[in-house]
Amino acid sequence: MSRARILPAEPRAVAEAADALRAGRLVAFPTETVYGLGADATSDAAVAALYAAKRRPAHNPLIVHVAGRASLEPLASLDAKAERLAARFWPGPLTLVLPRRPAAPISALATAGLATVAARVPAHPVALSLLEAARLPVVAPSANRSGRVSPTSAEDVALELAEAIDLILDGGPCPIGVESTVVDLSEPDRPVLLRPGGVPRAVLEEILGPLAERPGGEAQPRAPGRLASHYAPSLPLRLDALEVEPDEALLAFGSCVPPGALATFNLSPRGDTAEAARRLYALLRAADRSGARRIAVVPIPAGGLGEAIRDRLRRAAAPRPDDERSG
Ligand code: TXA
Ligand code: MG
Repeated sequence: MSRARILPAEPRAVAEAADALRAGRLVAFPTETVYGLGADATSDAAVAALYAAKRRPAHNPLIVHVAGRASLEPLASLDAKAERLAARFWPGPLTLVLPRRPAAPISALATAGLATVAARVPAHPVALSLLEAARLPVVAPSANRSGRVSPTSAEDVALELAEAIDLILDGGPCPIGVESTVVDLSEPDRPVLLRPGGVPRAVLEEILGPLAERPGGEAQPRAPGRLASHYAPSLPLRLDALEVEPDEALLAFGSCVPPGALATFNLSPRGDTAEAARRLYALLRAADRSGARRIAVVPIPAGGLGEAIRDRLRRAAAPRPDDERSG
Protein backbone atom coordinates (compact mmCIF):
# COMPACT_ATOMS: atom_id res chain seq x y z
CA MET A 1 0.00 0.00 0.00
CA SER A 2 1.44 3.34 -0.90
CA ARG A 3 -1.13 6.09 -0.79
CA ALA A 4 -4.27 6.19 1.31
CA ARG A 5 -7.42 6.87 -0.68
CA ILE A 6 -9.61 9.58 0.84
CA LEU A 7 -13.27 8.90 0.02
CA PRO A 8 -16.20 11.18 0.90
CA ALA A 9 -18.23 9.21 3.43
CA GLU A 10 -21.11 8.33 1.13
CA PRO A 11 -23.03 5.06 1.52
CA ARG A 12 -20.96 3.20 -1.11
CA ALA A 13 -17.68 4.23 0.53
CA VAL A 14 -18.99 3.29 3.98
CA ALA A 15 -19.98 -0.14 2.63
CA GLU A 16 -16.52 -0.58 1.11
CA ALA A 17 -14.92 0.43 4.42
CA ALA A 18 -17.09 -2.07 6.31
CA ASP A 19 -16.01 -4.83 3.91
CA ALA A 20 -12.37 -3.82 4.41
CA LEU A 21 -12.77 -4.07 8.20
CA ARG A 22 -14.39 -7.50 7.83
CA ALA A 23 -11.42 -8.55 5.68
CA GLY A 24 -9.01 -7.57 8.47
CA ARG A 25 -7.82 -4.31 6.93
CA LEU A 26 -7.39 -0.90 8.58
CA VAL A 27 -9.80 1.96 7.86
CA ALA A 28 -9.71 5.53 9.16
CA PHE A 29 -13.05 7.13 9.90
CA PRO A 30 -14.45 10.26 11.56
CA THR A 31 -15.91 10.28 15.04
CA GLU A 32 -17.34 13.27 16.87
CA THR A 33 -14.07 13.54 18.86
CA VAL A 34 -11.15 12.80 16.50
CA TYR A 35 -10.55 10.53 13.50
CA GLY A 36 -10.05 6.90 14.51
CA LEU A 37 -8.02 4.15 12.88
CA GLY A 38 -10.31 1.15 12.92
CA ALA A 39 -9.62 -2.58 12.96
CA ASP A 40 -11.69 -5.71 13.64
CA ALA A 41 -11.45 -6.07 17.43
CA THR A 42 -12.05 -9.82 17.23
CA SER A 43 -9.00 -10.46 15.00
CA ASP A 44 -5.50 -10.82 16.46
CA ALA A 45 -3.97 -10.20 13.04
CA ALA A 46 -5.97 -7.02 12.40
CA VAL A 47 -5.24 -5.64 15.87
CA ALA A 48 -1.54 -6.46 15.52
CA ALA A 49 -1.49 -4.62 12.17
CA LEU A 50 -3.10 -1.63 13.87
CA TYR A 51 -0.44 -1.45 16.61
CA ALA A 52 2.24 -1.73 13.91
CA ALA A 53 0.72 1.02 11.74
CA LYS A 54 0.59 3.43 14.68
CA ARG A 55 3.90 2.18 16.15
CA ARG A 56 1.98 1.97 19.38
CA PRO A 57 3.44 0.13 22.38
CA ALA A 58 1.59 -3.16 22.87
CA HIS A 59 0.96 -2.45 26.57
CA ASN A 60 -1.39 0.45 25.74
CA PRO A 61 -4.89 -1.01 25.25
CA LEU A 62 -7.48 0.18 22.73
CA ILE A 63 -11.06 1.42 22.91
CA VAL A 64 -13.68 -0.93 21.45
CA HIS A 65 -16.32 0.95 19.45
CA VAL A 66 -19.80 -0.50 19.02
CA ALA A 67 -22.98 0.71 17.31
CA GLY A 68 -25.10 0.55 20.48
CA ARG A 69 -25.29 -0.64 24.06
CA ALA A 70 -26.75 -4.00 22.99
CA SER A 71 -23.60 -4.89 21.04
CA LEU A 72 -21.60 -4.71 24.28
CA GLU A 73 -23.57 -7.49 25.93
CA PRO A 74 -21.18 -10.31 24.93
CA LEU A 75 -18.10 -8.21 25.70
CA ALA A 76 -18.43 -6.50 29.08
CA SER A 77 -20.63 -6.40 32.16
CA LEU A 78 -22.30 -3.14 33.13
CA ASP A 79 -23.48 -2.46 36.68
CA ALA A 80 -26.25 0.02 37.48
CA LYS A 81 -23.87 2.98 37.41
CA ALA A 82 -22.47 1.99 34.04
CA GLU A 83 -25.98 1.53 32.64
CA ARG A 84 -26.93 5.02 33.77
CA LEU A 85 -23.89 6.56 32.13
CA ALA A 86 -24.45 4.57 28.94
CA ALA A 87 -28.09 5.62 28.79
CA ARG A 88 -27.24 9.25 29.36
CA PHE A 89 -24.08 9.70 27.23
CA TRP A 90 -24.16 7.13 24.40
CA PRO A 91 -23.83 7.74 21.59
CA GLY A 92 -21.25 10.28 22.69
CA PRO A 93 -17.70 11.14 23.79
CA LEU A 94 -17.55 8.94 26.91
CA THR A 95 -15.46 5.77 27.19
CA LEU A 96 -16.21 3.35 30.03
CA VAL A 97 -13.62 0.90 31.34
CA LEU A 98 -15.64 -2.15 32.34
CA PRO A 99 -15.03 -5.71 33.55
CA ARG A 100 -14.42 -7.80 30.46
CA ARG A 101 -16.51 -10.96 30.10
CA PRO A 102 -14.17 -13.97 30.20
CA ALA A 103 -15.52 -15.32 26.92
CA ALA A 104 -15.61 -11.94 25.17
CA PRO A 105 -14.74 -12.38 21.49
CA ILE A 106 -12.11 -9.64 21.59
CA SER A 107 -8.43 -10.07 20.76
CA ALA A 108 -6.35 -10.09 23.96
CA LEU A 109 -3.99 -7.69 22.17
CA ALA A 110 -6.78 -5.10 22.03
CA THR A 111 -7.07 -5.03 25.81
CA ALA A 112 -3.33 -5.56 26.40
CA GLY A 113 -4.20 -8.66 28.39
CA LEU A 114 -6.20 -6.73 31.01
CA ALA A 115 -9.35 -8.05 32.70
CA THR A 116 -11.14 -4.88 31.62
CA VAL A 117 -12.33 -3.52 28.32
CA ALA A 118 -12.74 0.14 27.35
CA ALA A 119 -15.81 0.79 25.21
CA ARG A 120 -17.81 3.57 23.67
CA VAL A 121 -20.62 4.25 21.20
CA PRO A 122 -19.48 7.18 19.04
CA ALA A 123 -22.00 9.88 18.12
CA HIS A 124 -20.80 10.58 14.57
CA PRO A 125 -23.27 9.40 11.89
CA VAL A 126 -20.45 8.06 9.68
CA ALA A 127 -18.92 6.09 12.57
CA LEU A 128 -22.31 4.67 13.48
CA SER A 129 -23.19 3.62 9.95
CA LEU A 130 -19.75 2.04 9.55
CA LEU A 131 -20.15 0.06 12.80
CA GLU A 132 -23.64 -1.03 11.79
CA ALA A 133 -22.49 -2.15 8.34
CA ALA A 134 -19.40 -3.95 9.67
CA ARG A 135 -21.38 -5.82 12.36
CA LEU A 136 -18.16 -6.05 14.37
CA PRO A 137 -16.72 -4.46 17.48
CA VAL A 138 -14.06 -2.11 16.11
CA VAL A 139 -10.96 -0.96 17.99
CA ALA A 140 -10.10 2.60 17.05
CA PRO A 141 -7.30 4.64 18.53
CA SER A 142 -6.79 8.14 17.22
CA ALA A 143 -5.49 7.89 13.63
CA ASN A 144 -2.02 9.32 14.30
CA ARG A 145 1.44 7.91 14.81
CA SER A 146 1.82 7.06 18.48
CA GLY A 147 2.67 10.10 20.61
CA ARG A 148 1.72 12.68 18.00
CA VAL A 149 -1.13 15.16 17.54
CA SER A 150 -4.51 13.51 16.90
CA PRO A 151 -6.15 14.19 13.51
CA THR A 152 -9.45 16.06 13.27
CA SER A 153 -9.72 16.01 9.46
CA ALA A 154 -9.23 13.40 6.73
CA GLU A 155 -6.26 15.37 5.36
CA ASP A 156 -4.54 15.25 8.75
CA VAL A 157 -5.02 11.46 8.86
CA ALA A 158 -3.34 11.22 5.45
CA LEU A 159 -0.41 13.31 6.70
CA GLU A 160 0.01 11.01 9.71
CA LEU A 161 -0.57 7.56 8.28
CA ALA A 162 -0.79 7.63 4.47
CA GLU A 163 1.60 4.72 3.96
CA ALA A 164 0.09 2.49 6.60
CA ILE A 165 -3.59 2.37 5.59
CA ASP A 166 -5.49 2.24 2.34
CA LEU A 167 -8.84 3.89 3.03
CA ILE A 168 -9.84 7.09 4.85
CA LEU A 169 -13.52 8.00 5.09
CA ASP A 170 -13.87 11.78 4.91
CA GLY A 171 -16.67 13.11 7.09
CA GLY A 172 -15.36 16.66 7.42
CA PRO A 173 -13.90 18.21 10.56
CA CYS A 174 -14.66 16.58 13.92
CA PRO A 175 -17.27 18.55 15.89
CA ILE A 176 -15.73 18.07 19.37
CA GLY A 177 -12.04 17.94 18.54
CA VAL A 178 -10.59 16.29 21.67
CA GLU A 179 -10.79 12.60 22.55
CA SER A 180 -13.47 10.97 24.68
CA THR A 181 -13.47 11.20 28.46
CA VAL A 182 -12.28 7.85 29.88
CA VAL A 183 -13.82 6.71 33.18
CA ASP A 184 -12.79 3.47 34.88
CA LEU A 185 -15.80 1.75 36.45
CA SER A 186 -14.12 -1.59 37.04
CA GLU A 187 -14.05 -0.98 40.81
CA PRO A 188 -17.73 -0.39 41.48
CA ASP A 189 -17.45 2.02 44.38
CA ARG A 190 -14.61 4.07 43.04
CA PRO A 191 -15.05 5.57 39.58
CA VAL A 192 -11.76 6.98 38.34
CA LEU A 193 -11.24 9.66 35.70
CA LEU A 194 -8.44 8.26 33.53
CA ARG A 195 -8.56 10.93 30.83
CA PRO A 196 -10.51 14.20 30.72
CA GLY A 197 -12.22 14.61 27.34
CA GLY A 198 -15.36 15.49 25.44
CA VAL A 199 -17.73 15.08 28.41
CA PRO A 200 -16.76 17.67 31.03
CA ARG A 201 -15.97 16.43 34.54
CA ALA A 202 -18.75 18.53 36.11
CA VAL A 203 -21.38 16.81 33.96
CA LEU A 204 -20.15 13.34 35.00
CA GLU A 205 -19.91 14.30 38.64
CA GLU A 206 -23.61 15.21 38.62
CA ILE A 207 -24.23 11.47 38.20
CA LEU A 208 -21.20 9.84 39.83
CA GLY A 209 -20.30 12.26 42.60
CA PRO A 210 -16.64 13.29 42.95
CA LEU A 211 -14.35 11.38 40.59
CA ALA A 212 -11.06 10.00 41.81
CA GLU A 213 -7.93 10.51 39.73
CA ARG A 214 -5.30 7.92 39.04
CA PRO A 215 -2.76 8.37 41.88
CA GLY A 216 0.79 8.72 40.68
CA GLY A 217 -0.53 8.97 37.18
CA GLU A 218 0.64 8.10 33.81
CA ALA A 219 2.34 4.75 33.67
CA GLN A 220 0.12 2.86 36.10
CA PRO A 221 -1.31 -0.39 34.70
CA ARG A 222 -4.88 0.80 35.16
CA ALA A 223 -4.26 3.78 32.93
CA PRO A 224 -1.65 2.48 30.56
CA GLY A 225 -2.21 5.13 27.91
CA ARG A 226 -1.56 8.05 30.15
CA LEU A 227 2.15 8.31 29.66
CA ALA A 228 3.57 11.78 30.11
CA SER A 229 4.50 12.69 26.56
CA HIS A 230 1.68 12.46 24.09
CA TYR A 231 -0.31 14.59 21.60
CA ALA A 232 2.98 16.24 20.71
CA PRO A 233 3.75 18.53 17.78
CA SER A 234 7.33 18.62 16.46
CA LEU A 235 8.16 21.95 18.09
CA PRO A 236 8.65 22.36 21.83
CA LEU A 237 5.73 23.89 23.70
CA ARG A 238 5.71 26.51 26.46
CA LEU A 239 2.58 26.73 28.64
CA ASP A 240 0.91 29.58 30.54
CA ALA A 241 2.71 32.20 28.49
CA LEU A 242 1.74 35.83 29.17
CA GLU A 243 4.51 37.24 27.00
CA VAL A 244 5.93 35.88 23.75
CA GLU A 245 9.26 35.97 22.01
CA PRO A 246 9.60 37.02 18.36
CA ASP A 247 10.57 33.53 17.20
CA GLU A 248 7.59 31.86 18.88
CA ALA A 249 4.21 30.91 17.44
CA LEU A 250 1.38 31.84 19.81
CA LEU A 251 -1.77 29.91 20.66
CA ALA A 252 -4.03 32.57 22.14
CA PHE A 253 -7.44 32.30 23.81
CA GLY A 254 -10.19 34.91 24.01
CA SER A 255 -8.81 38.37 24.65
CA CYS A 256 -5.53 36.99 26.01
CA VAL A 257 -3.33 37.68 22.96
CA PRO A 258 0.14 38.87 24.04
CA PRO A 259 1.69 40.77 21.12
CA GLY A 260 4.90 40.13 19.19
CA ALA A 261 4.70 36.48 18.10
CA LEU A 262 5.98 35.29 14.73
CA ALA A 263 2.49 33.89 14.07
CA THR A 264 -0.66 34.02 16.20
CA PHE A 265 -3.51 31.49 16.23
CA ASN A 266 -6.47 32.18 18.50
CA LEU A 267 -8.08 28.95 19.78
CA SER A 268 -11.32 30.83 20.45
CA PRO A 269 -11.58 34.58 19.92
CA ARG A 270 -14.87 34.50 21.85
CA GLY A 271 -13.27 32.67 24.78
CA ASP A 272 -15.29 29.45 24.48
CA THR A 273 -13.59 26.20 25.57
CA ALA A 274 -15.77 24.07 23.24
CA GLU A 275 -14.65 26.14 20.24
CA ALA A 276 -11.05 25.95 21.47
CA ALA A 277 -11.27 22.14 21.75
CA ARG A 278 -12.65 21.89 18.21
CA ARG A 279 -9.74 23.94 16.85
CA LEU A 280 -6.94 22.74 19.17
CA TYR A 281 -5.25 20.04 17.09
CA ALA A 282 -5.57 21.83 13.74
CA LEU A 283 -4.01 24.98 15.24
CA LEU A 284 -1.23 22.99 16.95
CA ARG A 285 -0.42 21.59 13.50
CA ALA A 286 -0.58 25.07 11.95
CA ALA A 287 1.71 26.49 14.65
CA ASP A 288 4.09 23.59 14.03
CA ARG A 289 4.32 24.56 10.33
CA SER A 290 4.68 28.29 10.97
CA GLY A 291 8.46 28.45 10.91
CA ALA A 292 8.68 29.33 14.59
CA ARG A 293 11.25 27.85 16.98
CA ARG A 294 8.74 27.11 19.71
CA ILE A 295 5.01 27.27 20.44
CA ALA A 296 3.81 29.44 23.35
CA VAL A 297 0.31 28.89 24.73
CA VAL A 298 -1.58 31.32 26.97
CA PRO A 299 -3.33 30.02 30.13
CA ILE A 300 -6.55 28.14 29.30
CA PRO A 301 -9.45 28.25 31.80
CA ALA A 302 -10.26 24.91 33.45
CA GLY A 303 -14.05 24.84 33.05
CA GLY A 304 -16.05 23.06 30.34
CA LEU A 305 -13.66 21.40 27.88
CA GLY A 306 -10.77 23.42 29.35
CA GLU A 307 -9.65 20.51 31.53
CA ALA A 308 -9.25 18.27 28.47
CA ILE A 309 -7.43 21.01 26.54
CA ARG A 310 -5.05 21.65 29.44
CA ASP A 311 -4.39 17.91 29.80
CA ARG A 312 -3.46 17.59 26.10
CA LEU A 313 -1.29 20.71 26.18
CA ARG A 314 0.52 19.47 29.30
CA ARG A 315 1.31 16.18 27.60
CA ALA A 316 2.33 17.93 24.39
CA ALA A 317 4.77 20.01 26.47
CA ALA A 318 6.17 17.07 28.47
CA PRO A 319 9.73 15.80 27.92
CA ARG A 320 9.59 13.24 25.18
CA PRO A 321 12.16 10.51 24.88
CA ASP A 322 10.72 8.44 22.02
CA ASP A 323 10.39 5.33 24.12
CA GLU A 324 7.98 7.04 26.52
CA ARG A 325 5.51 8.01 23.88
CA SER A 326 2.18 6.39 23.53
CA GLY A 327 -0.72 6.81 21.28
O1 TXA B 1 -12.27 9.85 21.35
C1 TXA B 1 -11.64 8.78 21.42
O2 TXA B 1 -11.63 8.08 22.44
C2 TXA B 1 -10.84 8.36 20.18
C3 TXA B 1 -11.85 8.08 19.05
C4 TXA B 1 -11.19 7.56 17.80
O3 TXA B 1 -12.85 7.21 19.50
N1 TXA B 1 -10.02 7.24 20.47
C5 TXA B 1 -8.92 7.33 21.27
O4 TXA B 1 -8.22 6.15 21.42
O5 TXA B 1 -8.58 8.37 21.80
P1 TXA B 1 -6.73 6.09 21.98
O6 TXA B 1 -6.29 4.71 21.73
O7 TXA B 1 -5.92 7.17 21.37
O8 TXA B 1 -6.89 6.29 23.52
C6 TXA B 1 -7.44 5.25 24.32
C7 TXA B 1 -7.17 5.51 25.78
C8 TXA B 1 -5.72 5.28 26.12
O9 TXA B 1 -5.32 6.23 27.09
C9 TXA B 1 -5.74 3.86 26.72
O10 TXA B 1 -4.67 3.61 27.59
C10 TXA B 1 -7.06 3.87 27.45
O11 TXA B 1 -7.93 4.58 26.58
N2 TXA B 1 -7.57 2.51 27.65
C11 TXA B 1 -8.01 1.64 26.72
N3 TXA B 1 -8.38 0.46 27.29
C12 TXA B 1 -8.18 0.59 28.60
C13 TXA B 1 -8.36 -0.26 29.73
N4 TXA B 1 -8.85 -1.52 29.60
N5 TXA B 1 -8.02 0.20 30.95
C14 TXA B 1 -7.53 1.47 31.09
N6 TXA B 1 -7.35 2.33 30.08
C15 TXA B 1 -7.64 1.90 28.85
MG1 MG C 1 -4.53 8.73 20.85
